[in-house]
Amino acid sequence: MKRFVLAGLAIALGATAVLAQDVIAQRRDIMKGVGGATRDPGAMLKGEQPFDLAKVQRTLAVYQDAAKKMPGLYPADSKTGGDTSAAPKIWEDSAGFKAAFDKFAADSAAAAAAIKDEASFKANFPNVLKDCGSCHESYRLKKG
Ligand code: HEC
Repeated sequence: MKRFVLAGLAIALGATAVLAQDVIAQRRDIMKGVGGATRDPGAMLKGEQPFDLAKVQRTLAVYQDAAKKMPGLYPADSKTGGDTSAAPKIWEDSAGFKAAFDKFAADSAAAAAAIKDEASFKANFPNVLKDCGSCHESYRLKKG
C-alpha cells in the first residue's frame, strides 16, 4: 500500500515538473516572438529598411497579444528550470509585473492608433521600445 502511495506521489511530482517546463517554454517562445517581431521595425527606425505600415501594425499586435498572455505564465513552481531568465521579483511583486505588461499593452495600442505614416512611426514607436528595457531591468535576469 505504502509503495503505491509513494509511486503515485512520484508520478504527481513528475507531472508538475513537466508542466512547469512547459509553461517556461511557452513564455520564452512568446518573448522570442516579441524579439523577432521587433527586428523589422528596429531596422526601419535606423533607416536600414523601408517603412512598412502593415509590418509595424503586425508587430504592435504581437506585442498586445504577448502582454495579455505573459502574466498568466508564471506559476509559483516555475521559478527555475527550462533555462528561464525570470527574475525573483516577478513573484515578489506580481502586481508590479502585471502592471508593466498592462503598460506595454496600452502603449502598443496607443502607438497602433497613432502610427499612420513614417513620421508618426518615428515619433511613437521608440516610446513602446522603452517598455522592453524597463521591464527587463526589474523582472529579467541578465545572462552571460
Ligand atoms: C512587462 C515585462 C516585459 C516587457 C514589456 C518585455 N519583456 Fe521581454 N522578457 C520579459 C521576461 C520576464 C523575460 C524572461 C522570460 C522567462 O524566461 O520567463 C523576457 C525575455 C525576453 C527575451 C528572451 C527570450 C528567451 O528566453 O530566449 C527576449 C528576446 C525579449 N524578452 C524581448 C523583448 C522585447 C524586444 C520587448 C519589447 C518590444 C520585450 N521583451 C518586452 C519581460 C518583458
